[in-house]
Amino acid sequence: MEYIFFEGDFVPADKAKISVMTNSFHYGTAVFEGIRAYWNQEEEQLYVLFAKEHYQRLLKNCNAMFMKLPYTVEDLVNITVELLRKNQIREDVYIRPIAYFKDLKLTPKLIEYTPEIAIYTYKFGRYLDTSKGIRVKVSSWRRNDDNSIPSRWKVAGAYVNSALAKTEALMSGYDEAIMLNQHGFLAEGSGENIFLIREGKAITPSYSEHILEGITRAAVKKLLKNELIVEVEERPIARSELYIADEVFMTGTAAEITPVVEVDNRKVGNGEIGPITRELQDLYFKAVRGMVERYKVWLTPVYEK
Ligand SMILES: Cc1ncc(COP(=O)(O)O)c(C=O)c1O
Repeated sequence: MEYIFFEGDFVPADKAKISVMTNSFHYGTAVFEGIRAYWNQEEEQLYVLFAKEHYQRLLKNCNAMFMKLPYTVEDLVNITVELLRKNQIREDVYIRPIAYFKDLKLTPKLIEYTPEIAIYTYKFGRYLDTSKGIRVKVSSWRRNDDNSIPSRWKVAGAYVNSALAKTEALMSGYDEAIMLNQHGFLAEGSGENIFLIREGKAITPSYSEHILEGITRAAVKKLLKNELIVEVEERPIARSELYIADEVFMTGTAAEITPVVEVDNRKVGNGEIGPITRELQDLYFKAVRGMVERYKVWLTPVYEK
């Protein structure tokens, strides 16, 4: 049987239901996370990647949304491990925690409501093509401004912006969108942060560019600096720089490290995955599966050995 952690209990998946009158369903005020767990066949172990970091972000975002959950980061990590054990997951899996106001009341506000959280597991393989790379389009939709709906927080309502950009890209024959911020500089993809490589140096938009503070972005920065000995610069990036970059890749829990081989019908470099992106991918995919000893600190093992 498949279980979902729902409003305080592990319940069979078909019992985890909310009403159409649920307040957060109407106003997009839910706060969520996307977490991956990777199966290591040799060790017969499932590793949750950056469990603590995701729940830290979730609780901080909940706090900003006046959503006081009765759980600590440690509680939520333990609940997730228990859920994975109950569902006997022995393959790569995606985990979706979502906190919401359960009240059956109409008024778009964040106070005097009751927050709840649900956590479920979802089988899903690669989100984008990590082996061949993707074609992206600079979107006509601008990224949410921090003073309207902060992109920094992973709140459901902000994803209307992502859905518009992703749909436009897909309907125009591309795989993914890159959004500019209100100042016309690169922000991020519909569900990914972005990096450029120029003359051996990595460049990524800083936190002040109206982006989500990506957990993969932070990990990739460390790998670039400490393992590949590639300097990382954080600053505003103009759209024109994207068209002359040597390599471009996107990062995210779902997207992992996805190479971008074409932007707005211009090849990135020679149109193939660049050497820095490839080396980074090799290392990342080993690390997340527990195959690099010094990066096991990123992982929470699910099964007791
Ligand atoms: C808009 C957006 N940017 C960036 C990311 C990447 O963040 P992370 O690496 O924490 O998954 C995500 C995915 O969660 C996202 O939805």
